[in-house]
Amino acid sequence: MEVPTPRTALVTGASRGLGLLVARELARRGYSLVLCARTADDLYAARDDLTARGADVLAVPCDVRNAQEVEYLVARAIGHRGGLDLVVNVAGSTSWSTWRASSRSGRWSR
Ligand SMILES: NC(=O)c1ccc[n+]([C@@H]2O[C@H](COP(=O)([O-])OP(=O)(O)OC[C@H]3O[C@@H](n4cnc5c(N)ncnc54)[C@H](OP(=O)(O)O)[C@@H]3O)[C@@H](O)[C@H]2O)c1
Repeated sequence: MEVPTPRTALVTGASRGLGLLVARELARRGYSLVLCARTADDLYAARDDLTARGADVLAVPCDVRNAQEVEYLVARAIGHRGGLDLVVNVAGSTSWSTWRASSRSGRWSR
């Protein structure tokens, strides 16, 4: 019987928030993971959290606004397990202060 090849997913913005939740779910579904975020310490903490849950994880610090860094990230992702099956691009920031400021300004009651 043929053993299924593990699938590999690249998740950007995976050190916290939605990206980390997506990474946990993909790990639960058996994906090998390649994760990126800009802050290396936070990214490595996320990698360690997922590894402790049994996931296969490669963490590559990367700013997705930088084309050269993204090219390096994708090359590392493809090289990790010999292919890339899924990309989930979550990198971005949620600014709750902006939300609060917007609410106070009355913009949301118009
Ligand atoms: N949370 C919500 O309810 C919600 C709802 C709808 C849409 N969204 C959108 O979903 C995205 C993620 O939201 P979130 O709440 O998970 O945000 P978050 O908790 O602030 O996490 C953002 C993640 O993206 C990384 N990141 C930010 N800029 C990056 C860049 N230039 N290159 C690589 N990584 C980058 C951050 O790490 P570093 O800072 O270390 O790079 C972090 O890992 C945002 O675009 C947000 O607007 C969020």
